[in-house]
Amino acid sequence: MDREGEKLHRDQFGDTFKWGVTTAAFQVEGSCNADGKGPSIWDTFTARKGRIKDGHHAGTACDFYNCYQQDVALVRRLNIPNFRFSLSWPRLLPSGTGQANRKGIDFYNKLIDSCLENDITPWVTLYHWDLPQALEQKGGWTNRDIVSWFSEYTHLCARTYGDRVKNWIVLNEPMVFTGAGYFLGLHAPGRTGLKNFFAAVHHAVLCMGEGGRILRSEVPDAEIGTTFSCSHIDPWSSKPRDIKAAVRADALLNRLLIEPVLGLGYPVNDVPVLKGLRKHFKEGDEEKMKFDFDFIGLQNYTREVVRYSLLTPYIHAKLVKAEHRNVPLTTMKWEVYPAAIYHILKKFEAYPQIKKIYITENGAAFPDTMKDGKVDDPQRLQFIRDNIAQVLKAREEGCRVDGYFIWTLTDNFEWAEGYHPRFGLIYVDYATQKRTIKSSGKWYARFLLGQNRVAEVL
Ligand code: BGC
Repeated sequence: MDREGEKLHRDQFGDTFKWGVTTAAFQVEGSCNADGKGPSIWDTFTARKGRIKDGHHAGTACDFYNCYQQDVALVRRLNIPNFRFSLSWPRLLPSGTGQANRKGIDFYNKLIDSCLENDITPWVTLYHWDLPQALEQKGGWTNRDIVSWFSEYTHLCARTYGDRVKNWIVLNEPMVFTGAGYFLGLHAPGRTGLKNFFAAVHHAVLCMGEGGRILRSEVPDAEIGTTFSCSHIDPWSSKPRDIKAAVRADALLNRLLIEPVLGLGYPVNDVPVLKGLRKHFKEGDEEKMKFDFDFIGLQNYTREVVRYSLLTPYIHAKLVKAEHRNVPLTTMKWEVYPAAIYHILKKFEAYPQIKKIYITENGAAFPDTMKDGKVDDPQRLQFIRDNIAQVLKAREEGCRVDGYFIWTLTDNFEWAEGYHPRFGLIYVDYATQKRTIKSSGKWYARFLLGQNRVAEVL
């Protein structure tokens, strides 16, 4: 145990600090065809051969649709005061627009009420990657009409749940769903190429602005944010060409989606190919892209090391895989590097336009096993504790970070990786849907009780 880990306690963060846990609809709910839900791009993608490791799909996932009361009770049992989850757009609007699905609306009413009855604050993400398939048929994120489709959906959610939900997140990690989904083809809908990517990026930025404005007008007392994936980036060497490659990778991975929202435009000076985004601009877009969010959600898991590469098109930079760097790895083959979250906080802290930062996701997958009815996961426990210590360090240096949410509550469907990576504080036996709190979950529960309180034995 490191020294920082040993002396860590909740009270060091003060009373305003938000502690939480995050999930996402498609990764946990299952019941993909139940009660009038329409298909999403992820239902379609998981049904395509060879897209998901070992042919896994999310037909049942963690059966959260039926087990939500049990899982909310577990959030409470772990003493977690804030629960972030996403709404499934195709469960609410099966065709993406038009007729709403009563049973879908009721499901989230029950989930939100269950949180409130348990003294848990719900944090709702509007979009965590499960676009209605009907909209993908019309071009999905590449069609500018998505701004009006998304607006209709946002109005519906805000009017239906805004009386009880006061913490809203517009998009989850737009860089990932545009990059992996529309450029690399590794995620749904499996499209590739710069043309699709640029269109999807620009429309995602417009939706962040529009979504923020709609939420503000519909739920004036809400706290509104949106989230970004971000990895600290180090150059492979001190050679100028590696340093410049790292700057380009940083612009693409960490700055591309947030800077236009902050009113800074796209980082075209560092990555000239991004000039191609102009093609999708209409008059007034610069203004529409901006929104004065109450908070920015940062989601960090690791760092990346970047070197110059002549052969990589557009940015002449490539990631040096962690597995080739002789460093500790998670199941995702991501480097265990807790200082990354500190560097990321310092980096985003430097934007004066950001009012407040919450870490809306942080966590790690390790190969957990059940032994004598228990799951001991010392690596995850250490990872979480070390990351929290780094957040504290940044906060003590004056950083405007005021929240930390762990990814994730239960093991769940990890997109293209299927069920192999286990990220949960709670172990799921997928054959029986039995939940078992891991030692990391027990640690978080004790930590959240605060300094001088005695933990209930879980
Ligand atoms: C996403 C989650 C995902 C997690 C781990 C984030 O990029 O928001 O949906 O499961 O990272 O990969």
